[in-house]
Amino acid sequence: MNRADLTPLTARRGGPLQGRTRVPGDKSISHRALILGAMTVGESTVAGLLEGEDVLHTAAAMRALGARLERTGEGVWRINGVGVAGFAQSLGPLDFGNSGTGCRLAIGAVAGSPVTTTFIGDASLSKRPMRRVLDPLEQMGARVIEAADGGRLPLTLQGAADPVPITYESPVPSAQLKSAVLLAGLAAPGETTVIEAEATRDHTERMLRHFGAKLTSKPHGEHGRRITLQGQPELEPANVLVPADPSSAAFPLVAALLVPGSDLILDAVMTNPLRTGLLTTLREMGATIETLATRDDGGEEVAGLRVTASKLKGVDVPAERSPSMIDEYPVLAVAASFAEGVTRMRGLKELRVKESDRLEATAAMLRANGVTVEIEGDDLIVQGKATVAGGGEVATHMDHRIAMAALVMGLATDNPVRIDDSAFIATSFPGFVELMRALGADLA
Ligand code: S3P
Repeated sequence: MNRADLTPLTARRGGPLQGRTRVPGDKSISHRALILGAMTVGESTVAGLLEGEDVLHTAAAMRALGARLERTGEGVWRINGVGVAGFAQSLGPLDFGNSGTGCRLAIGAVAGSPVTTTFIGDASLSKRPMRRVLDPLEQMGARVIEAADGGRLPLTLQGAADPVPITYESPVPSAQLKSAVLLAGLAAPGETTVIEAEATRDHTERMLRHFGAKLTSKPHGEHGRRITLQGQPELEPANVLVPADPSSAAFPLVAALLVPGSDLILDAVMTNPLRTGLLTTLREMGATIETLATRDDGGEEVAGLRVTASKLKGVDVPAERSPSMIDEYPVLAVAASFAEGVTRMRGLKELRVKESDRLEATAAMLRANGVTVEIEGDDLIVQGKATVAGGGEVATHMDHRIAMAALVMGLATDNPVRIDDSAFIATSFPGFVELMRALGADLA
């Protein structure tokens, strides 16, 4: 993308954020619903699907692999799948745009079908590590025909005709890696096991069960899990209801905490305990976040959240909490900038391999706006102050979460905050700008 294509946007301090809203569907669950629907013979339905660019790339990929996907209403989709190991040879490469989740999960899904598939993506995705998923998939019998340096995109994978089940001890805390192995394991006979030292989001496990697969998940060590899938199940078509994405809710939520006088209700936010690290942390910082009615929505807990502007204090965020809030550090760092005292966020190595080097991009975002911030090893240390100067231009590096976090910051800084490009917000949160404006935010 060259400079002429960029769409800058500026956030300015204004009145309080008020009202009641629902953010779009969860990105993780949306990808998984499409992929599992595509691997199941018969008709599955999804309601509340996140129709962001990332998920639409996954939908297109599943079509290219032979599944039938139809959009029948806003967020409502009908899927007729091909069955486990039933993917067809795609005619061209599968383009995953900016989406690591769609790409890595699809790599796992096709690894158990005897087809050869080429995966491509944008400049950001093409820099991200894929070796982590290719290693176990090669052990299961898939073959990398071609890949860029270090197993990066563009890459061509030949799926295994007879995949073998493995027991895989994950070297990194990654739900995408775990999911890739489990999706490949569907086509293998016997038991495929993934051991993770730190539990990561378990939407794949929950949804596999929802589609009729047999799977056990047991504690492993202090913070980990051992997940075992029985291979070659007869998956049954299912209906999936996608709850609101807590990682998207994080942006209006933090904005409401920071803008004086704000009082906001966020409806039906997923509160899966492996996704609520940000809520825990903000509450420790002194945030007033009230949990309204909770309910079970298609196998996931959801709750209404009422957020009121709050005075925050700095805290120490332990490394073992990071998997449950891995996508929330940019916006937590913004909250920490306005808190009294120091916030130390520990163990953020994985942030370096997100849509951007999010550790550096987050630090640069704060620095550009007058916040004192340091990176020490894998820790991010933010020196908070009641007032933050702002006035900076933030480089978003094709990263939707840096873009949204910077805009949230600008709603509370003394001077406006400008981002160089707002285009990538549409990957995960279409309608973000309109939703924030409707709550009272000045974004222009
Ligand atoms: C996701 C897992 C996380 C997260 C991403 C979504 C998923 O990535 O950052 O936004 O849906 O499995 P990693 O598995 O790389 O940690």
